[in-house]
Amino acid sequence: MSLKSAAKERREAKAFPNGYVMSMKFIIQGGSRLEGEVFISGMKNAALPILFATILVGEPCILENIPNVSDIDVTLQILEEMGASVTRLSATSVQIDTANFNQGTAPYALVKRMRASTYLLGAELGRFHKACVGWPGGCNFGSRPIDQHMKGFEALGAVSTTDSGCIRLSAEEGLVGKSIYFDMVSVGATVNIMLAATLAEGVTVIDNAAREPHIVDLANFLNSCGASISGAGTSVIKIRGVSELHGCRYTIIPDMIEAGTFMVAAAATGGTVTVRSIIPKHVESVTAKLCEMGVGVEELDDAVIVSPATELQNVNIKTLPYPGFPTDMHPQFAPLLCLANGISCIQEGVFETRFRYVEELRKMGVSAMVDSRNATFVGGGKLTGAPVDAMDLRAGAALVIAGLAAEGRTEIGGVQYINRGYDNLVGKLRALGAKIEVVDLPSDEEILE
Ligand code: EPZ
Repeated sequence: MSLKSAAKERREAKAFPNGYVMSMKFIIQGGSRLEGEVFISGMKNAALPILFATILVGEPCILENIPNVSDIDVTLQILEEMGASVTRLSATSVQIDTANFNQGTAPYALVKRMRASTYLLGAELGRFHKACVGWPGGCNFGSRPIDQHMKGFEALGAVSTTDSGCIRLSAEEGLVGKSIYFDMVSVGATVNIMLAATLAEGVTVIDNAAREPHIVDLANFLNSCGASISGAGTSVIKIRGVSELHGCRYTIIPDMIEAGTFMVAAAATGGTVTVRSIIPKHVESVTAKLCEMGVGVEELDDAVIVSPATELQNVNIKTLPYPGFPTDMHPQFAPLLCLANGISCIQEGVFETRFRYVEELRKMGVSAMVDSRNATFVGGGKLTGAPVDAMDLRAGAALVIAGLAAEGRTEIGGVQYINRGYDNLVGKLRALGAKIEVVDLPSDEEILE
């Protein structure tokens, strides 16, 4: 059964509680402490580059611990529509065989839905020495250029043109490894050059590379397929080109951002929650900030136990590339800072702007000032439930946390953004005692149609 018909069947059977309808809302009755344990899913931002990397392999790969989120479904749809054989083996595992993958223009209606579509460029260029991809979408954080991606492709020998909304790459003479220095740390550009260089002639060195755990996961996957990549996790990654890759079975790392989101939700509701199936080192900057606020965090081998602060203290946060404090955790901290004593500041060090969620939090009683890349939050207040709208994935998570901690009822619209990156968020929160439900509004619009 094709992915599209399977998705349609799931929708009809309503077997997909956090499904694809664009008109869903979360209704939260705040005030319940989260108590118990939650098991974290596989990492969206690790699974996406690895799914596109299967284009380089041309043989069956089995990927496990894949999160059940709409960005993954959109990616599997893109791969299938371009000729890959995609077989869902379970809710969290999939087999992908790209032997018959056709290089060409990916379906723009799907490509435009997410930033990760850019990875098609590196994967197709790496295998076919040409690529054509519509301009990618993704969360709106101001300008999100791809100049560093293009700098890397051109260094390897590709010629790039952009016309009618498509980015075209071609390397008629093939790709030859080079040393590439990134002007700024970029996860996407690091991923894309790793993909393009894996089958290139000679050695590619990426300097000032991103060091995120999902970069390491991509390198580990590619090496499991026979690639020769070293240095992932440091700022210098070396890729020795190989002639071909072979299939493999690979398990995706746990989602450090989902883990951090549940850690902050526990702290914001004053509950005690064990966050399981994680790599504690990946959330150590979140742990450090919560401890600075007076929250208890005990580290186990593959879990952390979060316990309430007697009194939440204010802190200052500056987001940076890994191992700095992750930008994808900045919105989730905002409601917590509002519950702490004193004044707290967040400085957004990665994106041009990421504070659109503050306007929504103001509707819930938050007092905050935003100036370009800095926001100041006045603590000591309380949050009150209100109708609000998610503007992007992590902003949506911030509003959920605020709703859980608020007095009264919160309605959150735009939850299709949240479903892009959180696997069964409602079910996991309910199991921890949250009073949250999903409401389908009348006009259904389906992402996968
Ligand atoms: C990835 O986005 C993630 N998305 C983002 O997560 C995450 O916030 C971001 O990395 C930083 O960690 C996925 O993995 C799918 P960047 P990406 O390239 O690759 C600038 C989420 O919530 N830049 O590291 O787009 C750029 O504008 C999402 O899961 C250039 O100027 O991020 C930004 O200011 C949101 N030129 C900064 O670098 C370039 O060529 C970092 O961007 C590339 C980037």
